Amino acid sequence: MLKLGVMVSGGGTNLQAIIDAIDNGGITNAGIKAVISNNPGAYALERAKAHGIDAVCLSPKSFESREEFHKALLGKVDEYGLDLIVLAGFLVTIPAAMIQKYRNRIINIHPSLIPSFCGVGYYGLKVHEAALKRGVKLTGATVHFVDEGVDSGPIILQKAVEVLPGDTPKTLQRRVMEEAEWKILPQAIDMIANGRLKDSGLSAAKEEEE
Ligand code: GAR
Repeated sequence: MLKLGVMVSGGGTNLQAIIDAIDNGGITNAGIKAVISNNPGAYALERAKAHGIDAVCLSPKSFESREEFHKALLGKVDEYGLDLIVLAGFLVTIPAAMIQKYRNRIINIHPSLIPSFCGVGYYGLKVHEAALKRGVKLTGATVHFVDEGVDSGPIILQKAVEVLPGDTPKTLQRRVMEEAEWKILPQAIDMIANGRLKDSGLSAAKEEEE
């Protein structure tokens, strides 16, 4: 049974999709051990509590330095003995020490088709604003492993979503969540939990590197 830690900053609709998938059998062989937020006001924390899941907040503001915050974050993750860390709308940079220690065990959901509209400054609604400004006709979402770069780790799953005439950043964000994010994030977790990752492009990408 894979022990999941879900890291969040906001509303937690992706967290909800994971909880629902575990409840309805869309994800097997995994359970959520803890939900960790950097934001005390994150509604995601309420979603966790409502499901009897440990909900923890570590706010950078309550630490004297970034280093102290990073140490505490890694300490918390270690304490729970997590097998897989899922960044579900976690808008804080992951400490380098955590990336090293948990290599290939941290995944992130990003609301675009990477490598479009990703990297520094592209998060949340800003991603959809940029996509509409550029006039793309297709956007989507990506689940990827987290490495030292921003949105640069190996891609696990992607799903395309059509941009429709009259879309606003908000309507587009909602459609990308409904049609892509809430599907591919649980799907990626289920693949990892059941050893089916070889079915994604990841193993092919790795072989090419070697
Ligand atoms: C989601 O759209 C997620 O893809 C995005 O934040 C939102 C969180 O929503 N993440 C990023 O932009 C990361 N770069 P949620 O709290 O309702 O799951």
